[in-house]
Amino acid sequence: MSNVTPLTSQAQHSALPPTTHDEFARQEFVRSYKQYLVKNVHGTNHLAYEQRVKPKIEREKKRPPKDRFEVRDAMVQDPHYQMFSALLRTSQEMMWSACQIPVQRELETLNKKINKKRAKPHGSLRLNPTLEIPRYHTSVDIHCQPGGYHSEFDVNDASAGMVYDRAVHIYAMGQMGPYNNDIGASIALWVKENYPAFKPLRILDLGCSVGHSTVPYVDAFPKAEIHAVDVAAPMLRYAHARAEELGKKIHFSQQNAEAMDFEDESFDLIVSHILLHETSDKAIRNIIKECNRLLKKGGLMVHAETPQYKGMDPFDAFMLDWDTRNNNEPFWARSHEIDLKKLSKQAGFSPAKHIETLIPSAFQIAEAKRSLTFQGGDFGGGGFWFIYGSEK
Ligand SMILES: C[S@@+](CC[C@H](N)C(=O)[O-])C[C@H]1O[C@@H](n2cnc3c(N)ncnc32)[C@H](O)[C@@H]1O
Repeated sequence: MSNVTPLTSQAQHSALPPTTHDEFARQEFVRSYKQYLVKNVHGTNHLAYEQRVKPKIEREKKRPPKDRFEVRDAMVQDPHYQMFSALLRTSQEMMWSACQIPVQRELETLNKKINKKRAKPHGSLRLNPTLEIPRYHTSVDIHCQPGGYHSEFDVNDASAGMVYDRAVHIYAMGQMGPYNNDIGASIALWVKENYPAFKPLRILDLGCSVGHSTVPYVDAFPKAEIHAVDVAAPMLRYAHARAEELGKKIHFSQQNAEAMDFEDESFDLIVSHILLHETSDKAIRNIIKECNRLLKKGGLMVHAETPQYKGMDPFDAFMLDWDTRNNNEPFWARSHEIDLKKLSKQAGFSPAKHIETLIPSAFQIAEAKRSLTFQGGDFGGGGFWFIYGSEK
C-alpha cells in the first residue's frame, strides 16, 4: 500500500458510540481496505478502459464512445471493472455492518445517553412524530444503510445517527476531516471569501443528518441563529446530542425540506450538503421553490453535490454514476442530469444570479493528497466540491 494517504483519526466526543478493540480494528480495516481500492485499484479501471474497452467500442462503432451508457455497456463486461465494482460494493456492506455491531450491542444504554435531559442546552430539538417520511426514503435503503435514515429499533432511537457518524468517517476515509465537516466548512469559507460584506443572521441547513456540515456555520458565523432540518428523527436525536457535546448552538427540527413551517423570507443563507441527489426529481423542484420562499431578498442559497454529467468525459461520468446502480442511490443519475439553471428559474430565482462552480475543500489534507477526479465510492473526489445555487 505504498501510496496510501495517512489516515486522519475521527475526533472523539461522548455521543460517538464506544467500540471494543476488535470492533474498532474491524472498522479501521474497512477504511484502509476501501482506501486501497480507491487509491490503487480504481485508477486501473481507466487503464482497462483505454487499453481494452475503448478500442473495442471504437472497432464496433467506428467512432469513440458517445456517452456513459455506451461506456457502461462495455465496461460491465470487463473482468477488472467487475472485480473493482464487486469489491467496492463489499466495502460498503462491511462498513455498515462494522458500524452497526457496537451500536446494537449497547443500544438501550446508548439511546439513554443520547436522549438525556440537559440542564442548560445550547440549542434545541423539535421532533414531529406525525411527519410522513417521503416514499423516496421508505422504499429504498439509501446507499445500503440497513433501515435507512428513519427506521427506529428502540424507543426514542438514535441508532441510525450513531451508525452514520462513524460510517461517514470510514466512507470518506477520513478525508472530510476529524469531524466529517469538510463540506460545510468549505461552503462557509467560500461564502466568507466571495461575499465579504454578507453577514447572514439566520442560516438554514436542509437534510442535516447528524449535523456534520451544520456545525461549521456556527464557528464561521458566530452571530447567526442556525437552524437545521431533516425528515429522520434518529438522525436528529443524535445530531442534537452531538452538537450539545461539541458545545454548538443549533436548532434542529424534524421537517420535510419540501414544505417547512418557517415564515416567508426568514433566512439569509440556506444550504444543503449532499441532500438533493437522495430525493426524487419532484422533491428537488419542491425544495428549490421552498428555498425561494424562505430566503430574504439579498440572501443566498447554496447546495453541495458532485458535478453534473453534462460536458463530462463519458468514462468519468460512468465511474461517477457507480452509486446509481451499485449503491442503492436510485435518484443519483437523474439528479446529475437536471438543468440547474432552469431549475432555479422555475423556482423563481433570476438566471442572472445563478451559481454553479467547483470550490476548493477547506482541508489542506484533501487539497494536497486527493486525486483530481470525481469517482464512484469516493464522494467529493479531488479536494473540490461542486456547488449549485443562487443569490436572491
Ligand atoms: C446524505 S445525508 C446528508 C448529509 C449531511 N447534510 C451532511 O453534510 O453531513 C441526506 C439526509 O437528508 C435527509 N433528507 C432526505 N430527504 C429529505 C427531505 N425531503 N427533507 C429533509 N431531509 C431530508 C435524510 O434523512 C438524510 O439524513
